[in-house]
Amino acid sequence: MKLGIVSLGGKSSKAVAKAAKKYFDQVDLLDIRQFEVNLANSGPSVLYNQKSLPKYDCLYIRGSTKYSLIQYAITSVLQQSTYIPFQPRTFLLGHDKFLTLLELQKNKISIPKTYYVATKEIAKKTLDKAVRYPVIIKVPDGTHGKGVLIADSTKSAKTIVDMLEVFKKPYIIQEFVKTRKTTDIRAIVVGDKVIAAYQRKAAKGEIRANTHSGGTRKPHMLTPEQEKLAIKSARAIKADICGVDILNTRRPSVIEVNLSPSVHAGINEVTGVKISREIAKYLYQQTAQVYKVESQGAFKNVLDWILKK
Ligand SMILES: Nc1ncnc2c1ncn2[C@@H]1O[C@H](COP(=O)(O)OP(=O)(O)O)[C@@H](O)[C@H]1O
Ligand SMILES: [Mg+2]
Repeated sequence: MKLGIVSLGGKSSKAVAKAAKKYFDQVDLLDIRQFEVNLANSGPSVLYNQKSLPKYDCLYIRGSTKYSLIQYAITSVLQQSTYIPFQPRTFLLGHDKFLTLLELQKNKISIPKTYYVATKEIAKKTLDKAVRYPVIIKVPDGTHGKGVLIADSTKSAKTIVDMLEVFKKPYIIQEFVKTRKTTDIRAIVVGDKVIAAYQRKAAKGEIRANTHSGGTRKPHMLTPEQEKLAIKSARAIKADICGVDILNTRRPSVIEVNLSPSVHAGINEVTGVKISREIAKYLYQQTAQVYKVESQGAFKNVLDWILKK
């Protein structure tokens, strides 16, 4: 069986590719920037490096928010014939923090109180009336903590809102959830299990616990409630593989679901779990199952044809 890992070629994708060589006959690292999707009356097709994409039994699609629409398109075209651990719309939801929360809320998953606004006028009214300070303001498609801001007062929140007006895009105003020692929890979900989890602690003077913002990682044992929350979140946006960010308070809440979680050696070291291997094994098992059903289908067709003769 053949696996393609579609990504920007980062450490985590390489780690999964390496681990997957134990399971799949062929593993290719495919650059998401080289993909195109063509439509014609005869049907859609996916191209890679300007040539028709060869048949893969499994495609593990990763990559940043910039590629969410092409990820959607590739999955839409190929999901009938290839095991892909996401639904097409998972990419639209997962790369937009507000759409993720909307879906989580529909599934009765606890989230921080969140406002989604498109103009500074509405934002300022919300900041005057609705919120307590400090308050979080974030862009829906930020990553690595880069799009997350905190305002201690209405005055500073309003200057942020004035600045965000430049981008002419809706953004999020969110309740600041105070956690012990300014931490968050990352749970890695694979299939219907959390295979590893760790805590991130924000650097001194920082509220963002992301490692890119100076946060430090340490192992974490999930409570049954946190575990349930993570699994339910993955299911809600139909991701078979993802990282769920949880703010741990008396009532833990989910802030985002990451479709390309870090799963390189550093994370294995912290959690004591060979995460990339677990992902590779899961991809193989799922693909084998689809393959079996498909080939049984093909076998049945041949059988039907023989019986009809
Ligand atoms: N509502 C919030 N209350 C408290 N801290 C938050 C809140 N939202 C985000 N943070 C902090 O900021 C970090 C980054 O936020 P997140 O929404 O996960 O965006 P990113 O995609 O940049 O990781 C979180 O890991 C957490 O430490
Ligand atoms: Mg995050």
